[in-house]
Amino acid sequence: MNLIVVKDYEAMSRKAADIFSALLTLKRDCVLGLATGSTPVGMYKELQRRNRNGEISFKDVKTVNLDEYYPISPDNEQSYRHFMNENLFNHVDINLSNTHVLNGLAEDPDKECAEYDALIDSLGGIDLQVLGIGRNGHIGFNEPDEFLVPVTHKTKLTESTIEANSRFFASLDEVPRYSLTMGMGSILKARKIIILVSGKEKKEAARRMMEGVLDTRCPASFLSLHPDVTVIATEDAV
Ligand code: F6R
Repeated sequence: MNLIVVKDYEAMSRKAADIFSALLTLKRDCVLGLATGSTPVGMYKELQRRNRNGEISFKDVKTVNLDEYYPISPDNEQSYRHFMNENLFNHVDINLSNTHVLNGLAEDPDKECAEYDALIDSLGGIDLQVLGIGRNGHIGFNEPDEFLVPVTHKTKLTESTIEANSRFFASLDEVPRYSLTMGMGSILKARKIIILVSGKEKKEAARRMMEGVLDTRCPASFLSLHPDVTVIATEDAV
């Protein structure tokens, strides 16, 4: 893994936006794999700014998101569809019909997941995937477990993730207990991956990710199987 250490959150966000901007310049119709959570918000803001300035365009870009709560309506303010609209899509020149987020209301979640992997393949695969990391080493909603599922699938959230994500909901009880998530295999098919790590509470997860040992108790450690992963970490996270 290629490691870039930067001073703070703003520097991390700019560095990540640089990598996105370079790809958007080289390949206007690229396929971007996107993540939600607090970590990429600064990068999305920076991409909005560059789009406003005319430095980059999303006109021909297609996006696929990593995950979505289940069940949840796309209109729910805590849904990842809503997050993406608010943090990026509504503020750049992207065609909303080119943006894809798993359907948190799908009647048949298994079918929804299988169709999502087929959709990614039909788009030609992901050119650049951005990731955040959970304090417990999760990637997307691939939680630490005895085994990991390679394909997009429905999964139960762990207590630690429910608790961490409850900060966005009115109460702990309102956090959905399940999610639909790309599997580690779907993620590892991306041609290039960047993972953003910010803050000292991610330090232990970052250490285990970069240790060079595959451990299903730290799903992020499987990123070491990929030939082109760049970790962009703040000083206090490494
Ligand atoms: C988000 C996602 C999650 C987050 C992770 C870190 O789409 O899949 O794996 O990347 O939970 O969240 P933050 O950035 O809020 O610390």
